[in-house]
Amino acid sequence: MTRLRSERLILRPWEERDRDFWAALNADPEVMRFFEKVRNRAESDRVFARLEAHFVRHGFGFWVLERRLDGEAVGFTGLQHVDRALPFAPAVEIGWRLKRSAWGEGYASEAARACLAYAFDVLRLEKVVSFAVPANEASLAVMRRIGMQRAPELDFDHPFLPRNSPLRRHITWLISAEEWRRAGAAGGP
Ligand SMILES: CC(C)(COP(=O)(O)OP(=O)(O)OC[C@H]1O[C@@H](n2cnc3c(N)ncnc32)[C@H](O)[C@@H]1OP(=O)(O)O)[C@@H](O)C(=O)NCCC(=O)NCCS
Repeated sequence: MTRLRSERLILRPWEERDRDFWAALNADPEVMRFFEKVRNRAESDRVFARLEAHFVRHGFGFWVLERRLDGEAVGFTGLQHVDRALPFAPAVEIGWRLKRSAWGEGYASEAARACLAYAFDVLRLEKVVSFAVPANEASLAVMRRIGMQRAPELDFDHPFLPRNSPLRRHITWLISAEEWRRAGAAGGP
């Protein structure tokens, strides 16, 4: 199963020792502000199994970000196949979630750039998408920083959220392999 490295981080698959960290991340109301609810331990364990299963099946997934300086887990950033219920499936998304104390350090964008390099140079994907609720400025800023562009034709109502949920509408961003290469040649993103 693939591991990646960036300047300050190791991106690695989930291990048993990460369960408490994962549960704490999902139990923090501020981290989960743009999700329907925080997750209890049983719910976090269920998703943990899905994160592991994605790695087993595809060799990549939402990688744990381990800070090289002290070995501490600070969050996740990675690539995963979107649920087939989404209108633009099949597609691979890029996503991130950091513990609060690790916000504002550039870790999500740094890790996301390593993920995009893997997506385009190794997996040879044609495009990568990302989506968030419009109010999630911090997440949209990561998309912008790594060179993604808005793709309004792919905006959607999330099929797993109740019809009356204010979090149902999601806006979608996209980067193609060509855009990634062009930005790289120009010295960015
Ligand atoms: C979305 C989320 C990962 C963004 O985290 P973040 O720390 O703001 O994003 P980055 O890692 O790209 O860091 C960028 C910030 O670090 C700062 N920074 C500090 N040192 C830096 C460095 N060495 N290199 C780059 N940026 C650095 C940047 O200036 C920027 O701060 P600013 O936004 O005040 O300008 C975080 O808010 C989060 O986990 N949210 C909850 C989960 C969530 O909503 N996930 C997305 C669901 S769609």
